[in-house]
Amino acid sequence: MPKVFPNLEELNNFAAEKFIEIGNDAIEKSDRFTVALAGGSTPKALYRLLASEKYKNKIAWSSVFFFFGDERNVLPDDADSNFRMANENLFEPLEIFPQNVFRWETEFEDAAAIAGDYETKIMDFFDLRDGEFPKFDLILLGMGDDGHTASLFPFTDALNETARIAVENKVEKLETVRLTLTFPAINNAENVFFLVKGADKSETLKQVLEGDFEPLRFPSQNVQPTSGNLFWLSDSEAAELLENEKKF
Ligand code: 6PG
Repeated sequence: MPKVFPNLEELNNFAAEKFIEIGNDAIEKSDRFTVALAGGSTPKALYRLLASEKYKNKIAWSSVFFFFGDERNVLPDDADSNFRMANENLFEPLEIFPQNVFRWETEFEDAAAIAGDYETKIMDFFDLRDGEFPKFDLILLGMGDDGHTASLFPFTDALNETARIAVENKVEKLETVRLTLTFPAINNAENVFFLVKGADKSETLKQVLEGDFEPLRFPSQNVQPTSGNLFWLSDSEAAELLENEKKF
C-alpha cells in the first residue's frame, strides 16, 4: 500500500528520515551503508535535502557507499547523466570521498563492456561468487509514466534477465542502449523506495498498484523484494486515482 503525501516536500522529508534510519542501522550492524541511487528528476530534491543542514550531520557519510540503479549511456559530465545529477546535488555538497562512489564507467565505448565492468565492481565490493546477488541496504527507484523503473523499460530484453546483476538494455523507443541493475539484483535489497510524483504518473501508478499483473507492460510491478521492505512513496497528485492508499 503506497504512502501518500500532500506534496513532494513532505514525501522527501519522510524519505530522508527513513534513509538516515536505515543507513544508521546498517552502519551499526556492518560498519557500512550501501545505497543504489535513482536517476531522473524526482530524486534531485531528496538528494539536496540529504545534503542540507537538516540532515547532513545525521549519518557518517564516510561509511555510506553509493551505487546507481541505472545510467544513461552518456559521459559523466553530460546533462543527462544520473551520476552528474547525484554528484551536483549530493556528492559535491557533502564532499563524499570518490572511493565511496561506484558509478557506471560510461567512458567505455561499448555498453556491454560498461555493464560487465559495473557487475565486476559490484561483485568485488560485495565479495560475491558467480550466481550470487548484492544485498543493497537501500535501493531508490523512480517510475516512468510508461511503468518503467531504473532502465527496465516495457518489453525490453533486460526484463527477462535472471542471472546477471547489471546489464546493457536496448530501448528502441528511446533509440538508445541504457545501463541497468536487473530485477534479481533489485529484489535482493533489504529496502526499496519508489519515489513517484505528479499527476502525469497517476494513470500508470493506478495500473501498477491496482491493475492486473502485467510486468512486461508495467515493469515496476516486478519490483517485489524477496525478503526486503518495499515502500511506495507518492505525492497526492500521482496517487489521485488510487483506491487503496495510506494518506499522510
Ligand atoms: C532514469 C531513471 C528512471 C526514472 C524514471 C522516473 O535514468 O531516468 O532511473 O527510471 O527514475 O524515468 O523519472 P522522473 O523522476 O524524472 O519522473
